[in-house]
Amino acid sequence: MGVEIRVEGLRKSFGRQVIWEDVSLTIPAGEISALLGPSGTGKSVFLKNLVGLLRPDRGHVYVGGGDVPRLRENDLYALRRQFGVLFQDGALFGSMNLYDNIAFPLREHTKKSESEIRRIVLEKMEMVGLSGSESKLPGEISGGMKKRAGLARALVLDPEVILADEPDSGLDPVRTAYLNQLFVDLNTQLGATFLIVTHDIGTARVLPDNLGLLFRRGLVMFGPREMVLSSTHPAVNQFFNARRQGPIGMAEEKDLADVAAETAPPTMPAPIPPQLMPSDGSLRPSMRRPGEWLREHGVTPPPGSFVDDEGRDWLNDWDALVAQRQRR
Ligand SMILES: Nc1ncnc2c1ncn2[C@@H]1O[C@H](COP(=O)(O)OP(=O)(O)O)[C@@H](O)[C@H]1O
Ligand SMILES: [Mg+2]
Repeated sequence: MGVEIRVEGLRKSFGRQVIWEDVSLTIPAGEISALLGPSGTGKSVFLKNLVGLLRPDRGHVYVGGGDVPRLRENDLYALRRQFGVLFQDGALFGSMNLYDNIAFPLREHTKKSESEIRRIVLEKMEMVGLSGSESKLPGEISGGMKKRAGLARALVLDPEVILADEPDSGLDPVRTAYLNQLFVDLNTQLGATFLIVTHDIGTARVLPDNLGLLFRRGLVMFGPREMVLSSTHPAVNQFFNARRQGPIGMAEEKDLADVAAETAPPTMPAPIPPQLMPSDGSLRPSMRRPGEWLREHGVTPPPGSFVDDEGRDWLNDWDALVAQRQRR
């Protein structure tokens, strides 16, 4: 389950404003990837290019054999059925209750009977922890519930790919932690490919298998979490460690002008935290042994890496931890 998305040489501009040029990356099938970047770097525009809502100036987006920018309307329509998209605000219809909102894609895109629709809607609502809220209106629920309702709606067509645009924006840290756990659990259950755009460094550090950074009209880096979090590349190091010093400034203009700051010596990356685990005690197929990428590439982990909140060292105790989970 889950398909790979291969992006090659993608360039997008609006008029004379170049958003990014020459973006290439492979989003691995069935894995969780996260895309970050200062605001205005074209993260939302990137997601829209993946589903064919916007067309690039040039480049390719290969998904399941097709090249998205070159698909005809009919094929594009079919392709979009493979994508579940969670927009930033949940994009719920204000006059429809949650049940009807979540049922909407099924009524729109399938010929399923109302009883079948009911089974699917209730199943997805349970998955995201919204059972019992069927008759609530979007205006009556919290931001966190809206995100989960949007997520349930993104799931009803059993997508191969789930795209989420800042699902954690506007959520408090506790709600964000719950949402991240939900992403891990959904990925475990569904095996779909996840791409999550986020602003939250905390999320980026613990949730995904792969991390990417958009900055200064390009994709600075995309790769396994351990690679990115241990990187001393100035922008990557600054961004994922939330430091003030470095090439990323407050204003977009400074980002472009202040190249000198890049020569500032990189600081030691912060300890790499253990990755979030599925709550049912299982392991995700795409989850790698802590420290594996670092070892394979001869990189010494930043001191204190892979120690969890309870003080357990995942680097050394991984086998025992796995055995303990499997006994539960
Ligand atoms: N449909 C559009 N027409 C013209 N400019 C756009 C359009 N969509 C986005 N932009 C511009 O592209 C840039 C990147 O936008 P966006 O992808 O929303 O950034 P991010 O999601 O990273 O904050 C912004 O400068 C924005 O104004
Ligand atoms: Mg955006």
